[in-house]
Amino acid sequence: MRRSRRWNNGFMRTQKKRDNWGSRVGIIMAVAGSAVGLGNFLRFPAKVASNGGGAFMIPYFIALLLLGIPLMWIEWTLGRYGGGFEHGTAPGIFHSVWRKNKFIKYFGVIGIFGPLVIFIYYTYIESWTLAYSVFALSGKYGRLIDQASMQGFLRGFQGLQKNSYFSSLLPAYIFFLITFTINISVIYRGIKGGVEKLCKFAMPLLCIFGVILLVRAITLGTPDPAKPDWNVWNGFGFLWNPDFSALKSAKVWLEAAGQIFFTLSVGIGVILTYASYLSKGDDVVLSGLTAASTNEIAEIILGGSIIIPAAFVFFGPVDIRTIAQSGVFNLGFVTMPLVLNKLPLSELLGFVWFFLLFLAGITSSVSLAQPAIAFLEDEFDISRKKAVGIFAVVAFILCQPAIFFLGNGVVDELDFWGGTFFLVVFATIETILFGWVFGMENAWNEIHKGADMRVPRVYKFIIKYVTPLFLLVILGMWFWQEWLPIIFMKNVSAGDKPFVLATRLGLFALLFGLAFLVRISWKRKTQIGERIR
Ligand code: ALA
Repeated sequence: MRRSRRWNNGFMRTQKKRDNWGSRVGIIMAVAGSAVGLGNFLRFPAKVASNGGGAFMIPYFIALLLLGIPLMWIEWTLGRYGGGFEHGTAPGIFHSVWRKNKFIKYFGVIGIFGPLVIFIYYTYIESWTLAYSVFALSGKYGRLIDQASMQGFLRGFQGLQKNSYFSSLLPAYIFFLITFTINISVIYRGIKGGVEKLCKFAMPLLCIFGVILLVRAITLGTPDPAKPDWNVWNGFGFLWNPDFSALKSAKVWLEAAGQIFFTLSVGIGVILTYASYLSKGDDVVLSGLTAASTNEIAEIILGGSIIIPAAFVFFGPVDIRTIAQSGVFNLGFVTMPLVLNKLPLSELLGFVWFFLLFLAGITSSVSLAQPAIAFLEDEFDISRKKAVGIFAVVAFILCQPAIFFLGNGVVDELDFWGGTFFLVVFATIETILFGWVFGMENAWNEIHKGADMRVPRVYKFIIKYVTPLFLLVILGMWFWQEWLPIIFMKNVSAGDKPFVLATRLGLFALLFGLAFLVRISWKRKTQIGERIR
């Protein structure tokens, strides 16, 4: 639908009507859906178990209160503010906040780059969960009873080795195509007709599946009477007993902060875009808090109670440590199916587990696609359908290296830059912009427009001083400890170095390509006489 609008300078342009949310529940579900993802069920338990157990929760909660919650309010507010100027992504939103600065829009490019990069590998991993849902129901891995064979099954599926389970990457590729198509068709239907509908259906189902698995895990008891210590309560103890010595390690603090970013989907740019479809008077304080709380419940209660306690019961205290440290894919795709294979109704439980992951994944991946699409729509006046078409082609091409060179460190590299480093950089920029350039008084008024509750006053101080300082300390520590080994690829094997280097160059090109698009769009608008607000 198009409508005309007369700008102050009298110039008339045809303007698209931006999409919007159908209901308040809809946007809360969508933001919670973006937040609740593979990070809650796979990444979180692995991080807790390998970083001091319950002690990890101290930096985790500090990061939640001083980074996660403030950033969540900052992004909801900035997003709604930018939406008022018909900008749904960071280049335009940053420009609206700091019009005098010609360069700030280029910093906003990170808010399109990050989610696009995460989308590239996230969708592929999400497709494994769909494949494993089908494998579980059809009993394809049902007879595998040890780590080695289940690991072989996963590696065969990922195309990392040819074996008796899989002779090529074809099945994985087919599931990727299905998952990619489902994502695109949801996005194609728009915010209200696609994303909101999906999340309103998927989030309650995800909760039901999560509760089924939680009940199953806590009623496992002591399956082997010869090993009375291998019980579910000791499993909880393994996960939550605090090892306070871990708090001395800077790495544990960084990992806790990183988990908060990843799990809440802050610092990525997606909340900015989702919130840009709100109306001026819509509440952001309570809605943001509700979405964040939903994510935390899903993470701590469901994510923390399923995989590790259940695996402890069957593998005991020694093996579980190795398993927890062997990475999130092993936990989710090797250990968990092995555990479920030992239980009655294993096919059904396996399906419930993997489909839960699929629902968590798809509600996140559709959000990761939004910034790039909104950028094309808002800054190039392209229709949504065309924008989705362009996005689909570009994202599909970009996904290929993650699929074909998974074994060469490409996904880890994408995850590091797109899903870790640039999140912190982006969050630092938006926090400074909000608290210092926009100004804390303006910011405070803006947050409270249409608000259904007041933000505790202490957050005025936290947003202005503590959050940016915390972020700068994280960045500083990162540069201090990890900059050189990462730049010189110290921990990359010689064989993988060319792939990692090529990925880096590709990411560099993508970042500059997006910056170039911002330049073209601003130039174009100036040429046609449009006032960029
Ligand atoms: N927030 C999403 C997750 O936890 C990206 O997976």
